[in-house]
Amino acid sequence: MIEFEVDGQQVQVPDDGSSLLGTLRDHLDKRSAKDGCSPQGQCGCCTVLINGQPRVACVTPTRRVKGRSVTTLEGFSPDERARWGGAFCATGASQCGFCTPGIIVRLAGLEEKKPDASEDDVRLALAAHLCRCTGWQTIVDAWNQRDIEINDTRDLAAAAQRAELEGRNEQTVSAAVALGDGGFADDRAPADALVAVLNEAGKWVVGESLHQARTLAGKVQGRRTTLEPTHPVAVPNGDWVATLQTSWVDPAYLETDAAWALPGQPAVSPLSNGGAFGGKIDSIVTAVAEHLATEYDRAVRVLFSREDAIRLGAKRPPVAGAANADGTGVLRVVATPGIDEAIHAVAPGLTVEHVQVPTELRTSTQVRGAGWVEAVALLALAAGKLDRVQPIDSGWAEASVTSDGINVRVGAGQVLDEVVLRSYCIGAAHMGYSLVMGESLAVDADGIVQDLTVRSFGVVRASDTPTIHIEIVDESGPAVNASDAVFAAVAAAVALHTNAITWPHT
Ligand code: FES
Ligand code: FES
Repeated sequence: MIEFEVDGQQVQVPDDGSSLLGTLRDHLDKRSAKDGCSPQGQCGCCTVLINGQPRVACVTPTRRVKGRSVTTLEGFSPDERARWGGAFCATGASQCGFCTPGIIVRLAGLEEKKPDASEDDVRLALAAHLCRCTGWQTIVDAWNQRDIEINDTRDLAAAAQRAELEGRNEQTVSAAVALGDGGFADDRAPADALVAVLNEAGKWVVGESLHQARTLAGKVQGRRTTLEPTHPVAVPNGDWVATLQTSWVDPAYLETDAAWALPGQPAVSPLSNGGAFGGKIDSIVTAVAEHLATEYDRAVRVLFSREDAIRLGAKRPPVAGAANADGTGVLRVVATPGIDEAIHAVAPGLTVEHVQVPTELRTSTQVRGAGWVEAVALLALAAGKLDRVQPIDSGWAEASVTSDGINVRVGAGQVLDEVVLRSYCIGAAHMGYSLVMGESLAVDADGIVQDLTVRSFGVVRASDTPTIHIEIVDESGPAVNASDAVFAAVAAAVALHTNAITWPHT
C-alpha cells in the first residue's frame, strides 16, 4: 500500500503501478482532475498540487507521492472554490469546463508563488495547458477578477441557452462547471463498471479498472513526429487570382470520447457539456458501450485514449482551391459526403470536387465549419477584401486584423447573455486564427497519421494569440448562433492579412 495525503485526508491505496491521475479518479473518486491525454502529460487537464507545486498527475507515478501532500481542486477551501469558480463563471473563462480545473489549480499555484503575477506571467503559465473553447483571453480576465467580489446576478438559464446555440450542444453555465462538475460521461460512470479500451490492433479490451484494461491493451504511447504538415490535395491547374491549400487538422477537443451504459439501456453520451464543436457527434463509443454492456450484462465504461481520438475521430477535410475575384472557382475537398451543400451555401460560384486520397483518417461535415470556412477564406483572398460573413440561419460577423489585434463585430439576434456570447466569439476568433496560423496533423504518404499527441495539433498558445476585440451589436429578433460566422470571418481576415495561401501559414 502507498500512504499519502489527499485534500487534507490520509489515504492508503494499492501499489499497483497506477499513475496519480488513475489513483485519484478511480480509487479516490476525485473527478475534478481530468484525463485529456493521459499518459502524454501535455494538456494540463490533470494538474494538481503536490506539496504545493502544480504537477500533471497523469505522468506522476502514485509511488512518487508516498508521504506527500496532494491537493485537487476538490480540496480547495469553500472560499477559494467560490472565488475561482465565481471569477471563471463571471468572465466566461470556462465553457465546456473540461480543461478548467487544471487551469485553476495552475493559477492558484502561480498566485501562491507570485501574488503580483502579471498577465504575461499568466499567459506563460497557461503554456502547460490546452483549451479548445475559450481562446485564453477570458481566462486572463478571470485571473484579473479573482479578488473582485462577484455580484453575478445573471440569468444563468439564458446564459445556458446562448451557450447551447454557440456550442450546438446541451450546455450548463455555472461556477460548478468551472470547478469540474460539467457532467462528463467518464466522471459519472458507476464505480463498479467494467472498462473497455482499444488495443493496438483496434480491438476492445475489457478490464475491471481503467488501469487493468490499459495494461491488458498494452498500448504504445503516442508520439509526435518532426514531419512537416502535409497538404494532400493538389491545387487546381489554371490561371487564378487566388489559391488556398490546407492540411489535415484535428478538432482538438480536450475531453476524449467516453460513454457508459447499463445492460439494455441507451448509453450516456460523450457530448455532455459541449466543447467538441461537432467533433464527437458521430463517435462510436455510445454504440460500443451499449453492445458491451449487453454482452457482459454489466455496466461498461468506454474510453478513447488521445491516440484513439486522433486515429478514429472525425477530421476537418483538407481542401485545395482556386478562385477568381468574381467568386467563381474550384474547391477540391477530400471526399466527404454532404460537404457540397455546406460550401455552396456560402460560395455558390465554387465548383466542389471530391478527391480520394490514401488515408486511415475519417472526415466529416459535422466538424465546425468544415469546408465552408475555407471557402469563405478563398473567396476573400480572391476578392482582396472580406465582406460580412452570414451563413444561412445564423448571425453575422465582420472581422479585420490590425496592429491592435483581431477586431470582430458580431450580430447574434437577441444577446441572451453577453458574457457567454463574448466568450464564444473570442474562442471562435482564436479557433480561426489558430486554424490559419498553427494547426495541422502530419500524415505520411500512405495516409497513416504520424502525429499522435495533443501538442501535435498546433493549437496556438495564449502567449502567441493576438488581443481579440469583440463588439456585440444588440439586435432584436430570435437568438441565433454567431460564433461559427466569427470563426469563418476571422480565419478569412487572418488569411487576407498574412496572405496565407497554405495553412498552417509559416
Ligand atoms: S491528462 Fe495529464 S496532461 Fe493531459
Ligand atoms: S473550456 Fe477549455 S476545453 Fe472547453
